[in-house]
Amino acid sequence: MLVSPSLLSADFGNLNRDLEMINDSEADMLHLDVMDGVFVPNISFGFPVMKYVQKVCRKPLDVHLMIVEPQKFVSEVRDCGAEIMNVHYEACTHLNRTVQQIKDAGMKAGVTLNPATPVCLLRDIITEVDLVLLMSVNPGFGGQKFIHGTLRKLADLRRLIDETGSKAIVEVDGGVNLETGRQLAQAGADMLVAGNYVFSSADPAEAIRGLKQL
Ligand code: DX5
Ligand code: ZN
Repeated sequence: MLVSPSLLSADFGNLNRDLEMINDSEADMLHLDVMDGVFVPNISFGFPVMKYVQKVCRKPLDVHLMIVEPQKFVSEVRDCGAEIMNVHYEACTHLNRTVQQIKDAGMKAGVTLNPATPVCLLRDIITEVDLVLLMSVNPGFGGQKFIHGTLRKLADLRRLIDETGSKAIVEVDGGVNLETGRQLAQAGADMLVAGNYVFSSADPAEAIRGLKQL
């Protein structure tokens, strides 16, 4: 299983320590949650913090933009060293164009679905995207409870990917722990995001290793 710990639950007073933990861990990527207080009812961090993370973190950056009009920030996200730029389906009026702009900027394009947005809406973009990020909580906060309907959506998504021959990988975000992670692994997830589970653990690197083995 690919694992992308979410920095949202890190201790920002000890950011270097937490980034070094990630560097030394088996994490595949680092997930960065950007919130604007409009698309989601919370504000997290922005480009200055991401630029610092880019300097210290040796893992590829998986950026999850929970913002309106993400197409305005493609070059800024690229300049922060993002490997993946995830935009929300619900935030993009011209999703095809935005996906193209992300790829033209040299990043992998991810499209994210809120829990209430059905997978079938991806049919006409699925062969263009590198990754689909399924939200298993309503975005905006770490530490929420996993929404079990995500497992059925994951099955729908795997079917759509098979039918269309898409090369997209499937990432799931929200309420992931060893138990929900195991269910997601069985349902076909390729990559798990975990914030609270990793950073509230007594041994975060060990928590990452546990998820890796799913
Ligand atoms: C939620 C964010 C998540 C969050 C996950 O809006 O997109 O990435 O950090 O946190 P946990 O793993 O604590 O649910
Ligand atoms: Zn996220």
